[in-house]
Amino acid sequence: MCGIIGYIGHREATDVLIDGLKRLEYRGYDSAGIAVLNGRGIEMERAEGKLAALQAKIKKSKPHGKIGIGHTRWATHGVPSERNAHPHRVGDVVVVHNGIIENHAELRKQLIKKGCQFRSETDTEIFCHLIHSELKKTDDVGKSIQKALEKVRGSYSLVVLYGKEPGKLYLAKLGSPLVVGLGKKENLVASDIPALLSYTRNVVPLEDGELALLTKNSFKILNGNGKSLSKRVNHITWTPLMAEKGGFKHFMLKEIYEQPRVVEETLMGRIQPDSGRLILEGVNKLFGKKGFPFKQIAIIACGTSWHAGLVGKYWIEKLARVPVSVNLASEFRYADPMIGRDTLVIPISQSGETADTLAATHLAKSKKAKVLAICNVLGSSLARTSDATLYTHAGPEIGVASTKAFVAQLTVLYLITLELAKRQGKLSKEALITQLTEIRKIPQHLTKLLKSAAHIKEIAESLVNASHFLFIARGPHFPVALEGALKLKEISYVHAEGFAAGELKHGPIALIDEGVPVVALVPKNETYEKILSNIEEVKARGAHVIAIGDATDRDLSEKVDDFIAIPKTDYLLTPLLYAVPLQLFAYYIADHKGTDVDQPRNLAKSVTVE
Ligand code: AGP
Repeated sequence: MCGIIGYIGHREATDVLIDGLKRLEYRGYDSAGIAVLNGRGIEMERAEGKLAALQAKIKKSKPHGKIGIGHTRWATHGVPSERNAHPHRVGDVVVVHNGIIENHAELRKQLIKKGCQFRSETDTEIFCHLIHSELKKTDDVGKSIQKALEKVRGSYSLVVLYGKEPGKLYLAKLGSPLVVGLGKKENLVASDIPALLSYTRNVVPLEDGELALLTKNSFKILNGNGKSLSKRVNHITWTPLMAEKGGFKHFMLKEIYEQPRVVEETLMGRIQPDSGRLILEGVNKLFGKKGFPFKQIAIIACGTSWHAGLVGKYWIEKLARVPVSVNLASEFRYADPMIGRDTLVIPISQSGETADTLAATHLAKSKKAKVLAICNVLGSSLARTSDATLYTHAGPEIGVASTKAFVAQLTVLYLITLELAKRQGKLSKEALITQLTEIRKIPQHLTKLLKSAAHIKEIAESLVNASHFLFIARGPHFPVALEGALKLKEISYVHAEGFAAGELKHGPIALIDEGVPVVALVPKNETYEKILSNIEEVKARGAHVIAIGDATDRDLSEKVDDFIAIPKTDYLLTPLLYAVPLQLFAYYIADHKGTDVDQPRNLAKSVTVE
């Protein structure tokens, strides 16, 4: 999605803006630009393509000034081009915007009728004309912005720079994230926290409908009725380094290796294995002190987060015996789901800004369901919409392909499973102590598993010329097979598909031919024999089978072409471990192919528009 950065303070604004846009590149974009205000007026530079193109322009004539705004654009209206790149300007009004104006066509028509000259195909330019028109009637910029916003339907995070007011930035937020960063004699605003971290860790996310006025020494936040609000300042512990690659070739690889620490930090403060204590913040407020007041659970999510939800379903139904539906948010939001006061809705989202998941959550709330979110970003839109939030402590996930957030989501889902099983009287104190002791070992199992990266790399590179891959599994590992397929296709652009192994004979086995790679997840559990026969079936038709299984399973390793060992742990926890070899497998194939692993084509880290 689009990236926004704004600065006002004592530094050269251009340097801060470019630095901030670099930290927002992962959001996916096709053009970029900046506008800086100085004694001589507004200076703008924009360029199609990657940031390097913009920097080349700035090298020739660097805009000088202490206040400015910048933007990386992910096209929604109007082709990627310099003309359509932000910032957009009409007179002294300069705007950067993330989101979509749904009624842009009618507004554009009205404005053209009034004599407005449009220079771009973007919906964003409409804001410039609306605000500029209002400023002909008043010199109150804030009021002009408010009036303009009243005419707009859709979503926006907006930063406005007005040439006649060099010491101010005006902000507005509805449906698209915007965060203020509070520095010393300087303030910033951005779409996302990593862009702020080099200057401050004190942030204030704006809520929907809020406007703000930023100067270098102050910030004021108003609600839709112009009432001034006092807001809590969040202190972010992420350092700029966390958002850097830390010596790894790609963010994605760095984030795969962060997973032991991520599970540790996600468990931290929530489990006491010795005493069998489980402390999930906000849960008592939602469930009451004991028991479980809901008849059903509806999980809603997209992509990788949806796969995590599918694993959660297996766990919760097996241990807590509560019925769980797992819904694609993009479908759920347009269905008429049978949920209500008897339903606990669990939206899962790494970014907390996925438009479909937010919309589905709003629908759930309109049907009086209670909402417990699983989210990775403090103060995100989803967190602020939900009745309670259990945060994954995965830190900034910069790679577009989600890895550590997935494992962190599974960790939280497992803790929720244990909490529900305990409240349902399905888990004795001793059994809970055993489970907590097991889950606390996961970080060390992950560390051990990562030591097989070189072996996985070798297998992956031997298969780089395959044109399509199948991933098969059963039970709670089936969603992990779906996740392995998604990882591979989204970063290597090779077709891959996950199947429930029992489904092969219902069609997909027709895909098997000599040398077709089939990745099989083979934990030693009640369906072990079944999946072994699935492996025989595909082997008999020429498949090249890569099995992931129990480290002690010699039978299996001798039956297949390649074998990846998983450390022994409680069966129900193994989905947390099986995900990692699949992440590495996908990474090494993509890296070998030379695709843009961290920013794969056509994808964005957070899909904040429909
Ligand atoms: C995962 O690798 C993808 N980048 C994508 O499917 C992602 O999981 C999905 O867009 C949901 O994002 P969220 O968790 O931020 O809501």
